Amino acid sequence: MKGIVLAGGSGTRLHPATLSINKQLLPVYDKPMIYYPVSVLMLAGIREILIISSPEHLDNYKRLFGTGEQFGVAFSYAVQPRPEGLAQAFVIGRSFVGEDDVALILGDNLFFGAGMGDLLERAAARKQGATVFAYHVENPQAYGVVSLDKAGRATKIVEKPQKPESTWAVTGLYFYDNQVLDIAAAVKPSPRGELEITSVNEAYLERGQLYVERMGRGYAWLDTGTHDSLLEASEFVRTLQHRQGLQVACLEEIAYLQGFIGREQLAARGEMFAKTAYGRNLLRLARGDEGPGGPF
Ligand code: DAU
Repeated sequence: MKGIVLAGGSGTRLHPATLSINKQLLPVYDKPMIYYPVSVLMLAGIREILIISSPEHLDNYKRLFGTGEQFGVAFSYAVQPRPEGLAQAFVIGRSFVGEDDVALILGDNLFFGAGMGDLLERAAARKQGATVFAYHVENPQAYGVVSLDKAGRATKIVEKPQKPESTWAVTGLYFYDNQVLDIAAAVKPSPRGELEITSVNEAYLERGQLYVERMGRGYAWLDTGTHDSLLEASEFVRTLQHRQGLQVACLEEIAYLQGFIGREQLAARGEMFAKTAYGRNLLRLARGDEGPGGPF
């Protein structure tokens, strides 16, 4: 399975902070925002990742991640000339995806929760159709909203409904089989002028192939779209990391635990960042010091 991170957009709701920098490069506490969605793809076991961003910002991502060998993954890069909708990721990424299945994650979505790896691997293992993740929210009208029947099957999916029929928001993480390439290519722009990912999901629903995994109370799905929500996300990560002494979205750690990189590579990265908690976490892991409870 391939993975795509969509990290373009104009970031107008975060001006002036995003006048000269792409939103997904802003820090969420101690690391660039994009680390969090990349960590999700790596936890799903995905090792070929395409990063899509706007023409003026793509080089920053190349500088940040390079080939990806430091994480034992392969990064590719592509430009989205204008932010014309999430479904465009599959038009731009068509040759990258090739014959494979693909997961898409939005560069500004932050997920955290115990058992996340298992949930993701289950979705990645599904051979046919699409899987979306639903999250109970207070303000569903700000999101794609999915209605579910008693068995938890999707019955309807609507983008930012004025009168939502359910409180289940569709998060910015999607797993698709290869049909998505043709489905996305046929999507027409919505009234707001975008190729909507919700239109792609609707097409799967019509085929009876839209699966919904609910992310329950034990998960955090955080927004980073406004100055306040960005600060809240930073506070959330800071609180967890300080309390536990563990890292959220530490990419080398995930790479090591997934078997993508070895202990020496891990230690070398730890040395690079030795002045930070991020680096010290890598060095501790490389020493085999996993704490009294065993691996975390
Ligand atoms: O966050 C989940 C929501 O994301 C879903 O519930 C909605 O169904 C989905 O449409 C989307 O909603 P938004 O309208 O909030 O997405 P937004 O336009 O804010 O874009 C999300 C991220 O994707 C943002 O970091 C910028 C990036 N982006 C967006 C567009 C439209 C791109 O890179 N290219 C684009 O063309």
